Amino acid sequence: MLAIALGGLLLRLSQALPLNSPLLHEYDYIVVGGGVAGLTVASRLSQDPDVTILLLEAGPADNHELFVEVPGMIGDGIGSIYDWNLSTVPQTALDGAPRSIPQGFGLGGSSLINGMLWNRGEWVRTAREDAR
Ligand SMILES: Cc1cc2nc3c(=O)[nH]c(=O)nc-3n(C[C@H](O)[C@H](O)[C@H](O)COP(=O)(O)OP(=O)(O)OC[C@H]3O[C@@H](n4cnc5c(N)ncnc54)[C@H](O)[C@@H]3O)c2cc1C
Ligand SMILES: *[C@@H]1O[C@H](CO)[C@@H](O)[C@H](O)[C@H]1NC(C)=O
Repeated sequence: MLAIALGGLLLRLSQALPLNSPLLHEYDYIVVGGGVAGLTVASRLSQDPDVTILLLEAGPADNHELFVEVPGMIGDGIGSIYDWNLSTVPQTALDGAPRSIPQGFGLGGSSLINGMLWNRGEWVRTAREDAR
């Protein structure tokens, strides 16, 4: 919960207030998680100037690190301060060792540590094949 308070971003009346601005007494919407989905939802909700939105993010804002901003630089962010450092339980069906599960920690979520690569959706190929 402490981490959440550290990472609060406040959007009010279509106007984004600075990070960690003083909290209002109530909000119309509280979005938990400032990752790809949470930021999109909060941004879309803020298109209505009459609603107040609180976005809570557990992690920090980034410092414009190269691996955050340059497409394809996948790797440096994994295991960094922007990674939750989660891993699986030991995998008996593999070699008995756990495997890491990179997950972004901070404003931007996993887009902080991802590859920024675009892949054509698999369903496109499948739908086309189905049509044949
Ligand atoms: C290493 C890696 C490489 C990837 N490469 C690509 C790529 O090249 N192209 C591509 O399209 N996609 C890529 N992805 C996938 C893409 O980044 C994710 O699909 C996308 O970020 C998921 O969005 P999300 O909103 O579901 O979750 P996230 O973006 O992960 O956001 C979740 C947010 O919630 C926060 N949070 C969690 N719990 C709490 C809590 N209790 N309180 C407050 N905040 C909380 C987290 O800190 C995080 O910021 C990659 C992902 C990873 C990990
Ligand atoms: C993940 O591990 C790195 C390296 O030890 C550390 O700096 C970072 O704080 C860890 N992330 C979290 C969310 O604790």
